[in-house]
Amino acid sequence: MKVRLTEVGPRDGLQNESRTIPTEMKVRFVDALSEAGYEEIEASAFVSPERVPQLADAEEVFARIKRREGTLYSALVPNERGLERALRVKVGKASVFTAASETFNRKNVNASIAESIERFKPVIEGARAASIPVRGYISTAFWCPYEGRIAPDRVVDVVKRLTDLGIDEISIGDTIGKAVPAEVMALLDRLLDHLDQDRIVMHFHDTYGTAIANVLASYERGISGFDSSAGGVGGCPFAPGAAGNVATEDVIWALTRSGAALAPDLDRVRALLETALGRPLRSRVREALSGAKPQER
Ligand code: HMG
Ligand code: MG
Repeated sequence: MKVRLTEVGPRDGLQNESRTIPTEMKVRFVDALSEAGYEEIEASAFVSPERVPQLADAEEVFARIKRREGTLYSALVPNERGLERALRVKVGKASVFTAASETFNRKNVNASIAESIERFKPVIEGARAASIPVRGYISTAFWCPYEGRIAPDRVVDVVKRLTDLGIDEISIGDTIGKAVPAEVMALLDRLLDHLDQDRIVMHFHDTYGTAIANVLASYERGISGFDSSAGGVGGCPFAPGAAGNVATEDVIWALTRSGAALAPDLDRVRALLETALGRPLRSRVREALSGAKPQER
C-alpha cells in the first residue's frame, strides 16, 4: 500500500521549541525536507503571533522556501485572519483545527468546539474559492491532559460536523501521546463507518512509547495517511507533558518492512535539524542502525 506522509516538523516541531529558530534555518529545514522527497510538508502556522511566537515568521518562511514540484506546502489556519495571511503567500492546503475535548480546545484556541467550528466555516469557503484543499485536525481524540480519557463517540460527533462542512481530510490527533493500539482500533472501527479510509490521517505523539505500535495498528486497518516529524520533534505548548511526534525515520522503517511504499530520504534533514536545534534528535531506528553491521540493516 502506498503511504502518504505529512512532515509536520516545521510546524508541530518548531512551535514547541523554547529557543527561537532563525527564519533562515527554518527555510533551510523546509528546503531539505523538499529535497528528501516528501509529498506534503506542514511548513508553519498562521496563528496568533502572541500565542505562538515561535511561528510568527510564517509569511517569510512561505515566501522564501523553494517549492518542489510534487510537494504540497500546508499550514495551520485557525480563522479568516489566518486565511488572508496564508493565501497571500500561496499556501497549498489550509488546516483548520479543533478538538474532542472542550477544556483542551478552550486552552488552545480560546473557544468551545462549536465556536471554533463556526470560526473556520469562512476559512473552508475561502479555501474552496481559492481552489485549495482543507484538512481538519481533531486534537485530544484519545486522551486530554485536562479531562482524561475521551470516548470515541465524542470524536465521531466532531468528525461528522467537519465532514458536513466538506472538509477533505481529517487528521486524528493523539495530542499527549498516550493512546495504545486497542484504543486506536476501537476508534477507527467507529470512524470507518462514517469516513472513507483515504480521508483519515493519524497524528501520533510519542510520550508513552506507543506511537509506532499505533501507526502499525492503523495501517492494519487500511489507513495510509500519517503525520510524523524528522527526529521526532514536536509537542503542543497548550498540552502540558506532550512529547514529540512519532519520528519519520521510525515510521519509514516500520511501514516499509510491513510492505508499504514510501519515498523520503532523511540523512541530510537530520544533520541540518540537529545543528538548528543544538541537540541530538531521537529515533530508535537511527540509533540501532548507527551501530549495525551492513547485513543487519
Ligand atoms: P483569540 O485568542 O480568540 O483572540 O484567537 P482574537 O480572535 O480575539 O484575537 C486576539 C488578537 O490576535 C487580535 O489582535 C487578533 O487580530 C490577533 P489585537 O487586535 O488584539 O492586536 N489574531 C491574529 N493574528 C494573526 N493571525 C491570526 C490571528 N487571529 C487573531 N490568525 C486564535 C484565536 C485561534 C487565533 C488564538 O487563540 C491562537 O492563535 N491560538 C494558538 C493555537 C495554536 O497554534 N496551537 C498549537 C497548534 S494545535 C496543535 O499543536 C495540535 C495538532 O498538532 C494536532 C494534535 O497533536 O492533536 C494540530
Ligand atoms: Mg500535534
